[in-house]
Amino acid sequence: MDAEALKNYMEDRQQATILGELQSFMYLMMEYRCAIREIETKLNVLNDEFSLRHERNPFESIESRVKEPLSIIEKMRRKGFELTVENIEEKLSDVAGIRVICSFVEDIYYLADMLSAQDDLKVLEVKDYIKNPKPNGYRSLHLIIQIPIFLSNQKKNMRVEVQFRTIAMDFWASVDHKLKYKKNVANPEMIAEELRKCADVISGVDQRMQEIRNMIEAEEIADDKTDSQ
Ligand code: GTP
Ligand code: MG
Repeated sequence: MDAEALKNYMEDRQQATILGELQSFMYLMMEYRCAIREIETKLNVLNDEFSLRHERNPFESIESRVKEPLSIIEKMRRKGFELTVENIEEKLSDVAGIRVICSFVEDIYYLADMLSAQDDLKVLEVKDYIKNPKPNGYRSLHLIIQIPIFLSNQKKNMRVEVQFRTIAMDFWASVDHKLKYKKNVANPEMIAEELRKCADVISGVDQRMQEIRNMIEAEEIADDKTDSQ
């Protein structure tokens, strides 16, 4: 083989490798989208059933996303993993992400418990940042769930990160996320302290809202009892 032919051969092989990786990457992202759909369906079933029984919804909204390729690359670099499709699947547990926004803190645990009890999935990890908030004030309940998807020729277990939070916690987290990009502030410690205080205020409001709802529900139950007497 002369030099020119060898160069062409190497280029072709490189291209084939890149194309192969790209195809398996796209395939993997499709699998994550399917896993998201499976869990979303389960949450919607719980929501439908709960709303018939209790005349209200346990969650306000669900957002889901498959991590953007650039964010995947950035995270793999940050964690020091070689960038291969195999590694993305093995090392990252938040490529597929679902966020469930609830009105009340108790609804978070209701939904998380009902989902976790289902026997076709496995909870791999629980991070309860509501009972144990992050030092910066961040609150949410995170579950890493393993769920099978059924493809034409195989059953494949996929991991999905499900974040449960109240509307108030979501408000705080969105604003916190926006402020993270503004790094060149004069007094970062003071800003961090202010944000933590806001998180505490918000958590207090969540607790009071929960208490108000519990009071209303207790009255409704008492009314039902007198009606039926
Ligand atoms: P990552 O390597 O970033 O995924 O951290 P981790 O593996 O320790 O996971 P963790 O459960 O702490 O956080 C995962 C996700 O929770 C992040 O991608 C964010 O969506 C959210 N999160 C965690 N901490 C914060 C925070 O301080 N502020 C905001 N806005 N979101 C957060
Ligand atoms: Mg994570």
